[in-house]
Amino acid sequence: MSSQRPAGLNIRSQRQSADQHRTVFSVQVAPGGQSFTVEPGENILAAGRRQGVWLPFECGWGSCSTCKVTLVSGEVKLLLPDAPAVDERDQRRRRIIVCQTTPLSDLVIRPVRVDTEPPSERPVVDRTGRLRKVEDLGPDIRRLGFDLDGPARYRSGQHAVVTLDGGLLRCYSMANAPNGPQVDLVVKRYAGRPGSTAMFALEEGDCLPITLPFGDMWIRDGTAPIVLIAGGTGISAVHALAAELATRRQDREVTAFYGARSLPELVLASELEAHITRLGRGRYHFVLEHPPPQWTHASGYVTDALARHLSVAPDGHYYLAGPPPMVDATLDFLKGLDVGRDRIHYDRFG
Ligand SMILES: Cc1cc2nc3c(=O)[nH]c(=O)nc-3n(C[C@H](O)[C@H](O)[C@H](O)COP(=O)(O)OP(=O)(O)OC[C@H]3O[C@@H](n4cnc5c(N)ncnc54)[C@H](O)[C@@H]3O)c2cc1C
Ligand code: FES
Repeated sequence: MSSQRPAGLNIRSQRQSADQHRTVFSVQVAPGGQSFTVEPGENILAAGRRQGVWLPFECGWGSCSTCKVTLVSGEVKLLLPDAPAVDERDQRRRRIIVCQTTPLSDLVIRPVRVDTEPPSERPVVDRTGRLRKVEDLGPDIRRLGFDLDGPARYRSGQHAVVTLDGGLLRCYSMANAPNGPQVDLVVKRYAGRPGSTAMFALEEGDCLPITLPFGDMWIRDGTAPIVLIAGGTGISAVHALAAELATRRQDREVTAFYGARSLPELVLASELEAHITRLGRGRYHFVLEHPPPQWTHASGYVTDALARHLSVAPDGHYYLAGPPPMVDATLDFLKGLDVGRDRIHYDRFG
């Protein structure tokens, strides 16, 4: 492999690369496994999936490392140069993440395993979503309701990958519990940033490719207490989880924590409250960084509310979603309470 960036994978000269992008390449799974083709610029994971070769995966965008395989031979290009799952050692060990890698030649790869059926927890399908409804929920925060062109099975808490103009890929958590072909996404716009700006430019009737489901966030069965923790747009995943729990109506202890910067940004709070109050043993805590004068809930960060109100159950499960600083602070907080990582399920939005 040649070097594309210090910790990155290889890329040949610009000219060779451009030539190669006009070609369909084959990928052979070693030892002696199936082979499949990859369209120009397509990632290896998606190409395999299209042709019934299911390589291991989880997040679908480059953060979890589940899809790492050994590159036995061939040249590749990493599609997301700063993918969190890629580190220095991968270059030395010729390890690639197939969800964010495209071939520049025919390849031989060696995964830890390969399946001919989709995994039951992530039966990924490629769909087209037609935007049915646009709802402004708060400042620069919208709920986009899509009708998919076919069925999609997902578990509340999981996310989709949308393809925007120019092939730009972005992840968004489904904000509703599974509801036939209807999928809601809650999107925050970051000024000048390409993905969220493109999502905000969508109008009712517009269509875009949506691939789903990905991720590891879903309610684990059992009777153990559940703690839901959302920061900002992390409410999308947590709202779906709360809606699911309300539908199941189990007598399970559920505590929700939801933080935002200001009251107008605490979107879907009343819907979350409604789901939680339907539960026999549900409680919720809202927290604002900049509360209005009459605010009766907690102030500060989500971790401040956790410090005041969280009672740790030894067997409890914790589900958290939101921006990286909030997720990292919460993981540190839970670690300080000796909560095992196997009981923490999280999506770091970036
Ligand atoms: C699992 C997950 C769930 C998310 N759910 C939501 C949600 O429900 N609501 C919401 O508003 N935001 C969500 N996000 C964040 C969202 O995906 C975008 O990062 C966000 O909209 C900002 O994108 P941007 O292009 O405007 O900004 P930018 O700052 O340009 O986006 C950078 C981010 O985009 C992502 N990214 C970059 N390239 C790729 C790629 N090729 N494939 C996939 N991702 C890439 C990375 O996370 C990166 O940090 C989620 C992120 C993840 C990882
Ligand atoms: S890093 Fe590829 S599936 Fe998560």
